Amino acid sequence: MDSIQHAAQEQFQKQSHRYARGHILENTQDLTAAIEGLPLPAGAEALDVATGAGHAAFCLARAGLRVTASDLTPAMLQRVREGAAERGLDIRIREHSAEALPYPDATFHLVSCRVAPHHFSSPAGFVRESARVLKPGGWFIVIDGTVPDDAPDAEAWLHQVEKLRDPSHNRLLPPREWRSLCEQSGLSVQKLEIAFRKQPDLEWYFETAATSAENREKVRALIASATAPIRRHYRLAEEDGKITWWWPMLTLVAQKPA
Ligand SMILES: C[S@@+](CC[C@H](N)C(=O)[O-])C[C@H]1O[C@@H](n2cnc3c(N)ncnc32)[C@H](O)[C@@H]1O
Repeated sequence: MDSIQHAAQEQFQKQSHRYARGHILENTQDLTAAIEGLPLPAGAEALDVATGAGHAAFCLARAGLRVTASDLTPAMLQRVREGAAERGLDIRIREHSAEALPYPDATFHLVSCRVAPHHFSSPAGFVRESARVLKPGGWFIVIDGTVPDDAPDAEAWLHQVEKLRDPSHNRLLPPREWRSLCEQSGLSVQKLEIAFRKQPDLEWYFETAATSAENREKVRALIASATAPIRRHYRLAEEDGKITWWWPMLTLVAQKPA
């Protein structure tokens, strides 16, 4: 494991209780929309990478796919085990990193990954491995926070905020970079959309990551001093005494040539 993977594992090993029932990731409309209309065969094999507490994996299983849920953090996989049992879903669970997938070539009809690649030490390795384990004609779906392609100030500001909030954060990729990684791995991008998702409470956001008091202050200072273009870009606001903002989320759907 490299140092970035190790930092992510350490962070999520401590925070797994925050990611099960009641977390905003329980809402999987984004993934439902992404798989809608994809021509997947009945009982298609799906791999959900960096599955966290398993919300995306549960969504795929409910849609009739045979799901393998994987993550590098044992405590998160325990949440998946419990969540699958509670929901009566049959899900296989595997512990491994996103950058090295322990499966033969052409194993899966679908590889998905939601709200996790910003922790990866090698997004390029993850895309390359995903392309390898997909069957010809298989589908690759990434949903993650993103930064604008040509707005270095907005990009740098969000990176600072994310890193202070959770030091295991690595990097949010702009859409152009995702497209290029897919192309380098022979995946053809069929859809790339940005939607803004509301973060309703800065304090909740800190709590889910156990942000230190010192770093909370630094983030508040960054918010207070954010320039007008940054405030506009992330729609920073205050509602009922809570700091809110809108997080740009990328949905990418790509296909491995048949
Ligand atoms: C926010 S959670 C994922 C949420 C989940 N995909 C969902 O849709 O509910 C992030 C997860 O990424 C995992 N993770 C971080 N870096 C990883 C890596 N390099 N390989 C595999 N998993 C990783 C963490 O262990 C954590 O469980």
